[in-house]
Parts: sequence; structure tokens; C-alpha cells
Amino acid sequence: MTQVLRSVVTGVGGYLPDQVVTNDDLAKIVDTSDEWIVERTGIRRRHKASDDQPVSDLAVAAARKALEAAGRSPEDVDLIVVATTTGDLTFPATATIVQRKLGAPVGVAFDVQAVCSGFVYALSVADGFVARGRAKCALVIGAETMTRLMDWTDRGTCVLFGDGAGAVVVEPQMGEGTTEDRGLLGFALRADGTKQDLLYVDGGVSTGQVGKLRMQGNQVFRHAVVNISEAITAAAADAGVEVSEVDWFIPHQANLRILEGVARRVGIEDHKVITTVADHANTSAASIPLALNTAVQDGRIKKGDLLLLEAMGGGLTWGACVVRF
Ligand code: UT7
Repeated sequence: MTQVLRSVVTGVGGYLPDQVVTNDDLAKIVDTSDEWIVERTGIRRRHKASDDQPVSDLAVAAARKALEAAGRSPEDVDLIVVATTTGDLTFPATATIVQRKLGAPVGVAFDVQAVCSGFVYALSVADGFVARGRAKCALVIGAETMTRLMDWTDRGTCVLFGDGAGAVVVEPQMGEGTTEDRGLLGFALRADGTKQDLLYVDGGVSTGQVGKLRMQGNQVFRHAVVNISEAITAAAADAGVEVSEVDWFIPHQANLRILEGVARRVGIEDHKVITTVADHANTSAASIPLALNTAVQDGRIKKGDLLLLEAMGGGLTWGACVVRF
């Protein structure tokens, strides 16, 4: 056996803002219904950050819980990667704001912008530091205030998104070089910039306005099931495992029909699928760590379980990751 340095998830945390918005609440402002939203998406409610809550506050709350779960304190943290598309400011990176608010020492801190795929991308980036001995205690955070990008007159998008944050602590541990090792075992990351028009925000530095989210939902839907399935197969091959060995499937929570469709296509049984979309809606880069946190807190996911994560979002970007928890 060859000893290898692995990036091991040692703590998980999540945070959801207090305000809950139900489908009935939205039916008062756009022409929609609880019945339509539940049937087409599986979403029943979502959380919304208050006006004085920047995304960094959500990220810090999730990070504190993850650090506590790992038995670490902010002073231990030497790498912070925040996956977000709704950073507090155009710059600095939200990660440096999180660093200041946590009171973490001088280290490495930056954001990853891959929209809903951001958390999977960020894990891969953190793995590049931790598994090469370049970070000893990494915080990888997915944090979003997507409700700030909504066009509240567009029923095709404003019912789909919510706010929240999830975080993991990733630390180096020696493994045996087998698929029984704990750690981030395999990745497949993808992007196709030619599909930008299917899902984007029509604002930014070049326009002088923050902008609103625009999506051709049914086109994104079509790409999602096929592309995610390919990435899952590739990530499993990268890790050297079969998809059938996976204990828990933790998909990006965009739409119940998409995540069930992907699970069916790659042969994952229903009871292995973690779904939080009913209560969280689509929280973009926060959705996977929030779902992971939910299933760790309720005792389903245990140390040593084999996890499969996947996501797709604006770019288009997509990807999958295999983790021995
Ligand atoms: O996280 C990033 C990735 N994003 C996604 O994965 C989202 C992918 N897409 C989806 O989840 C689905 O495409 C939606 C939930 C966005 C839409 O579901 P759909 O089954 O694809 O519906 P559709 O867009 O084809 O629209 C069907 C009908 C349309 O009416 P007409 O043209 O048939 O009269 C829409 O105007 O449903 C209408 N509609 C609504 N009706 C009531 C669209 N939104 C709503 C709504 N309430 N909120």
C-alpha cells in the first residue's frame, strides 16, 4: 500500500435565515400556485435573508458550526474558499470578509464563481491545497443570497430560489491509497460557455447594475439530466468506485424531477437520495453542503460512508465528486 495524503471532511455546518417564504406567499405576487410549484419542482418553501444580512454573515454562521463539529477554532484556519455568485461586494472576495468576521489569521482566502456548481468546484480547489500539504485546515463554504437576484415579476424563476449557507472543514490525513480511505476521492468538473444564454444574470460590472437572473428553464432541465449523469460516471471512475457502491447521493437541489431523473439514470436507489429542495428550494452553491449538513445532523450520513455529490448551474458549469466521509 502506498501512503497518500487525503483531504478529509472533518466537520459540516449549515445556516438558514429565519424568514420563510411559502409558495402561497409567492402566489400573492405572481400568477402561480402551490400546486404548480410542488408538482413541477418539489419546492414548498424557501428561506430569505433579511435586508441587513449580507451573504458573508450566512457564510460565517455556517462556518462556525462546521468548525465546532470538527473541533477546530477560527485560529486554526489557513485556507478559506467561498463558493458564491452573490458576494457582498464586487471585490474584495467574500472569503476575505469571512476571514475578518471569523477572526481567522492571515492565510489564503478567495472566492470560486461557478454558480450552482460552485461548491463542487471549490472542494476540488481545496483538495489541490490540502492533499499537497499546502493547507492544514481549510474551510470550504457555499453561501448564497439568490433572492437578491430575482425578478419578482418572473414566475418562471422567482419561485425557484432561496438563501442559505453550508460549510465543511477539510483537513489532511494519511490514507492507504485505496477507496476505503476517508477523503475527497474523485472529481469530474465541466463547463460549456456556449450555453451561457440558458442561465445568466443580465447585470454586472460591465453594465453598472447588479442585474436579475434569467433562465430558459426547460432547456437547462434538458441539459441537466444528461450532462450530470456523464459527470457522475466520470467522477466514480476517477475515484475508482462503482456508482452502485455509493451510500448517499447528495445532488444539487434545483428541482426534484431533475435529481430523481439523474438518480434513476445512473442507477441510484430512491432511499439513498438526500433531498432538501422542498424546504430550501435552490440555494445555488449552498445547496449541496446544506443537504449534506441536514443528513449528517439527522444521523443518516455516518463516518466512512461513500458520498456522491453533483451539481449543474450557470455557465453552463457542472460536475460531480466522490467523498468517503
Ligand atoms: O440550479 C441551476 C439549474 N437550474 C435548474 O436546474 C432549473 C431547471 N429547470 C426547471 O426546473 C424547470 O424547467 C422549471 C421548474 C423552471 C419549469 O418547469 P417546466 O416543466 O420545464 O415548465 P415550462 O418552463 O416548460 O413551462 C410550462 C408552463 C408555461 O406555460 P405555457 O407556456 O405552457 O402556458 C409556463 O409559463 O408553466 C408556466 N409556468 C408557471 N405556471 C405557474 C412557469 N412558471 C410557472 C409558475 N407557476 N411559477
